[in-house]
Amino acid sequence: MNDQNSFKGKLGNYSFIETLDGSVTLHSDFFDENFHNLKGAYEETFFTYINGSKLSRMFEDQNLASFSLLEVGFGMGLGLYAVDKYLNDKYLNDKYLNDKFLNDRPLSQKIHFHFVSFEIDGELISWQIENDQQMKNHYSPTSLPKLSEWHKEELKIQNESFVFYKVEKEISPHLVFSGILLIGDGRKVLQPWFRQNSSWPKFHAIFQDAFSPKKNPDLWTVEWFKELYQLSAKEVILSTYSSATAIRRSMFEAKWNVLNQKAFAHKKAMTVATIDELTLGPMSEDLKLKIENTPIPAYRDQDQSEFVKARDKKMQSN
Ligand SMILES: C[S@@+](CC[C@H](N)C(=O)[O-])C[C@H]1O[C@@H](n2cnc3c(N)ncnc32)[C@H](O)[C@@H]1O
Repeated sequence: MNDQNSFKGKLGNYSFIETLDGSVTLHSDFFDENFHNLKGAYEETFFTYINGSKLSRMFEDQNLASFSLLEVGFGMGLGLYAVDKYLNDKYLNDKYLNDKFLNDRPLSQKIHFHFVSFEIDGELISWQIENDQQMKNHYSPTSLPKLSEWHKEELKIQNESFVFYKVEKEISPHLVFSGILLIGDGRKVLQPWFRQNSSWPKFHAIFQDAFSPKKNPDLWTVEWFKELYQLSAKEVILSTYSSATAIRRSMFEAKWNVLNQKAFAHKKAMTVATIDELTLGPMSEDLKLKIENTPIPAYRDQDQSEFVKARDKKMQSN
């Protein structure tokens, strides 16, 4: 394997690190954090997002013909790769489950799987497309389309132009995949894109995978979780590795029903959140009291301007 160990993006350097389950992650110099847990990038992703958001609901609920997944921060594409592997291992390569959940549907009841993500560092995505071979050694989907198969297009929001990648592929006679990857600040591009594509279904699952709240605060604010609430279906499950009281308070103030769950590996807790209490049950009284009485404030947009300014300056300088 003749892999490059690091490369430069708009937000500085990225270096590959091998994690304990044998899968790789990246370290971002700008955010000064790894993209995943060093105990296992793939296993963490599977535990926190595939299991955490109960993705199996999507394929097994015969009443759900169309569903939509949002990944907050596309990064190196491990979230989508884990979805692809899960889809193959659990359904497509298992005749019994494939027949039971996919093939036994009438063709008129195809499942339409919608995926949306965004990434602020466009060069991180360009690097992956140009280094398809190296990505194949790590994360290359087998059923879902590879990034190099997505078409590049332009999106106009007011006077600004943004790039996005788009793809549609029939994965099996009963399953169609549509993917959108928006390049830009998720806080600026997601809502306008949705407004221009009003037939896109609201989110049933959200992988909230920003860097930690201290390093990436703009994606953990009350205003951000309000936006996600508005863009979500009633049955949504949002999952995230973080259990910080401040982010739980941000979610709570944005009207999410916040739940505590055991986290991956050595970590004690992670967070899942729903809109409808019937999806996973109501928030515990203990957690509600803790959030209502904590002196720790929620994250708010108004306090993030210094961070946003420094980040945008870094982007412009590269
Ligand atoms: C923890 S990494 C995501 C890892 C990714 N889910 C994966 O599994 O490969 C967080 C990602 O969010 C991106 N990001 C951070 N702030 C952003 C913003 N405001 N808008 C869009 N992307 C952002 C970072 O550049 C980084 O790639």
